[in-house]
Amino acid sequence: MHTKPEPDWRGLIKPAVNAIETSGIAEVFDYGHDRQGLIPLWVGEGDLPTPAFICEAARASLDRGETFYTYQGGIPDLRAAIARYMSAHYGAGLGPERFFVSVGGMQALDMAVKLTAGPGDEALVLSPAWPNFAGVLETNGARAVFVELDAGASWRLDPSRLEAAVTPKTRAILFNSPANPTGYVASREELVAVLEIARKHGLWIIADEIYGRLVFGPTRAPSFHDVMEPDDRVLFVQTLSKNWAMTGWRVGWLEAPPALGQAIENIVQYTSSGVPVFSQRAATVAIEHGELFIAETMKRLAHSRDIMVDGLKATGRLDITVPEGAFYIFPRVLGESDDRALAFRLIDEAGVGVAPGRAFGPGGAGRLRLCFARDPATVAEATRRLATWLTR
Ligand SMILES: Cc1ncc(COP(=O)(O)O)c(C=O)c1O
Repeated sequence: MHTKPEPDWRGLIKPAVNAIETSGIAEVFDYGHDRQGLIPLWVGEGDLPTPAFICEAARASLDRGETFYTYQGGIPDLRAAIARYMSAHYGAGLGPERFFVSVGGMQALDMAVKLTAGPGDEALVLSPAWPNFAGVLETNGARAVFVELDAGASWRLDPSRLEAAVTPKTRAILFNSPANPTGYVASREELVAVLEIARKHGLWIIADEIYGRLVFGPTRAPSFHDVMEPDDRVLFVQTLSKNWAMTGWRVGWLEAPPALGQAIENIVQYTSSGVPVFSQRAATVAIEHGELFIAETMKRLAHSRDIMVDGLKATGRLDITVPEGAFYIFPRVLGESDDRALAFRLIDEAGVGVAPGRAFGPGGAGRLRLCFARDPATVAEATRRLATWLTR
């Protein structure tokens, strides 16, 4: 039988798309995710199921037949619930017209970039950084310019280094606090310094505060809400994913000045055309009745963090900056520079899945990211396996 040769598909699409790098987390995940007995600490999600009362709201929505197109900006009930929640935690007077429901935090981030940066533009990104920040800039034709944090007793930002990275092409500062993968939580003073740089140079701030409630100690992290004026150019990225164990529901929101409403709804229209109503119903009850779940999650996270940090510090092989927020540690492995090879070996020889540090950009090489959002017994077992391997 005559078979035609396969077309050179990759040669037929836009070269810029081929140039987009695959996440270094995906590479180790693909290698090891189906190993029997492996404890996965590589992805950014926990092991708790979505609370039953949240799932129930989605089921009731489906039973009511809410399976059709809906508002581009989100259903009014959810936008009102977000406004009440944000006003309660971040200051009164944040009305529903500021909040635009998105397909997870990721679409909110993509829309924030689409509104502010395009081909030839640059955005400053604190590093080590979640790989999707560079990725979302690249898919929009823009470029990440990394500014490294300092690791010490805690991760800290030197604002003068941030300002020195501004060029005529800079359009935005993509600022993630609490941060993935470092657990860095910006102080109020650091936020003021960043805001001043943005004002001085006419830049947007894209504030990814998705881990804002997941901090050890206070009930939330310092936020640009605490320091900004109404005319400051700040767009906020948020998601239901982490607070309420809802990574698969794909609901988040972009917070922006209401005057941008039509522009944002147009982007939604021409990309996702909206978020499924049953997911939005689930999100509404999560926000309205989910405080207890967050409190319990934080107790569990603090316990798991301590087990992992104490157990791994005791090996003397890791330099660990204790995270102030989010649910990752990002230690340096003493005497190891090839973190990629190390991540593969830990899959094969220790039965633990970790993300290689170099996937997180400048400052990441020689480090590993470990997610401790798991039950304390599993975290203890993963820690035991890693400690045994590291001190063998
Ligand atoms: C810092 C940060 N921002 C945004 C997101 C995206 O969240 P979502 O899963 O809701 O798209 C993540 C997910 O890991 C994240 O770590």
